[in-house]
Amino acid sequence: MSPEDFEFAAQFFKDRSGLILTRDKTYLLENRLMPLVRDMRLKSVTELIDGVRRGDSVLQALAVEAMMAKDTGFFRDWKPFTHLRTVVLPNLRVARGMKAGFRILSAGVSTGQEAYSVAMTIKDVSSSFPGWKVEVVGIDISAAAIAAATKGVYNQFEVQRGLPVHTLLQYFTKQDDNWALSDQIKSMVKFQAWNLLDDLYPLGRFDVVLCRNVLVYLDLKTKLDVLQKLARLLVDDGALYLGLNETVMGVSSSFRAINPDLGIYAAHRADRPASLSLAARVDL
Ligand SMILES: C[S@@+](CC[C@H](N)C(=O)[O-])C[C@H]1O[C@@H](n2cnc3c(N)ncnc32)[C@H](O)[C@@H]1O
Repeated sequence: MSPEDFEFAAQFFKDRSGLILTRDKTYLLENRLMPLVRDMRLKSVTELIDGVRRGDSVLQALAVEAMMAKDTGFFRDWKPFTHLRTVVLPNLRVARGMKAGFRILSAGVSTGQEAYSVAMTIKDVSSSFPGWKVEVVGIDISAAAIAAATKGVYNQFEVQRGLPVHTLLQYFTKQDDNWALSDQIKSMVKFQAWNLLDDLYPLGRFDVVLCRNVLVYLDLKTKLDVLQKLARLLVDDGALYLGLNETVMGVSSSFRAINPDLGIYAAHRADRPASLSLAARVDL
């Protein structure tokens, strides 16, 4: 690929998704785009980039899809989900008792495993929330990932990544070689294709936001923009979960660290100490 093509493509993907590609990532660009080159029966990555440059909107959308790293798994890193179950959910029960409801956003949800892990965590303690209106929302820039998430059908390899056997048997049924998630869990989650670079306000407010293993691909300015938008989506005592290798430190002052090793932060509000966050309080 010529240096001009690389520069054009890197700028295009940054503008569209926030993805940052440095020169040493030429191989990554080519590897990720090659399957699309084959699917579209094009001759080369150069031809694909020419199409993107000409403004072919279908090709542009497919190229952005192709560039996204979508690796994920059920209960990824495990401990944040233990924190959700043992700290945030009990706090929500006390703090939202009068309202009897709460909303959780999984931003950059990929093929749905993260949002469904949240839903299964809530379901396991559902006796604490009788009659509550609970909503989990999953968004991702990739329409293909959102379509897969909405289906809720996973192969053997996918369910083996993180799902304990008893949870698999409790919430999934075998469908040929795959495993289909129960309607009970699926009905708790809504998925929507959404770009984090766009206005997030129409999504409404959330008590908890997970944005895990997404910011790591973005440049500093885009990270800051996204974090500020997420801070505005959160209610005053809201909690944010980032990936274990991600941080708000040195990026945004809109959050306060609760347990940075686990990627857990409180929305920062001038008149409210972080100790009153859902992520920190345990009012049992
Ligand atoms: C590595 S996956 C992480 C999935 C899940 N959060 C987890 O931690 O397992 C990153 C996801 O972020 C999505 N993503 C990247 N940039 C995005 C953007 N600008 N808007 C929305 N989603 C984006 C990708 O499509 C991909 O599905």
